[in-house]
Amino acid sequence: MSSARARRVMIAGNWKMHHDVPASVRLASMIAVAADGVHDVDVAIAPTFTALFSVYNALIGTSVMLAAQDVHWLEQGAVTGEVSAPMLKSVGCSYCIVGHSERRQFFGETDEMVFKKIVALKSHGITPIACLGETLEEREAGQTFEVVARQLDGLLGDLGPADIATLILAYEPVWAIGTGKTASPADAQQVHAFLRDRLRARAGDAAERIRILYGGSVKPENAAGLLAQPDIDGALVGGASLDAGHFARIIQAAG
Ligand code: PGA
Repeated sequence: MSSARARRVMIAGNWKMHHDVPASVRLASMIAVAADGVHDVDVAIAPTFTALFSVYNALIGTSVMLAAQDVHWLEQGAVTGEVSAPMLKSVGCSYCIVGHSERRQFFGETDEMVFKKIVALKSHGITPIACLGETLEEREAGQTFEVVARQLDGLLGDLGPADIATLILAYEPVWAIGTGKTASPADAQQVHAFLRDRLRARAGDAAERIRILYGGSVKPENAAGLLAQPDIDGALVGGASLDAGHFARIIQAAG
């Protein structure tokens, strides 16, 4: 599958608020073994903030890369409880998830905040994985494309084509996250193609280089079907990334 692909596949695990340091290091090490020898796939894992540095050390010499789950847009300051992009850089993060629907839903994250986070990450050489997606109500009201277009425009802000080209997007329909319901490969492809068209209008040919991941109940059983779609360039995996065996099978489905 990989040789025909327009873009290198990425499989990223979002561990959310799971695992202390020893459990994170164990899981990371198992994933690194599973990823060893799988070519043409970028694998990243996003542990909690407290486990980042230990996991970074456990991943040295492996092909698995480190991601954070969130960031604040300021470099430093009186912002109790937050973590900045240079801090993430200092513990070895290559990627950072921003705009996850749980941040939007529970912590009031807006597209404008996501934009500011993207700018901060880019200035420290960390690649943002920017999430967007509609709720069940929005889908049922036929507003999916309108919603993702608004989110995309908002989080891109006034970024130029060169900056847009280095972003990773993750389309995660909110109704599919942690629910066991997955968008069908055809439905997901439709939204991914729509997003790429919109990126093309903003960034021209650079849109062909932008990876758009799918997220929402990705499992070993459905990964291959989703990844076979021309505009689905990888997966952002929650629940199934906490099981090394399941995550390994998803990585293999991509390789
Ligand atoms: P899920 O989560 O795979 O458990 O649905 C995906 C995500 O929230 O990124």
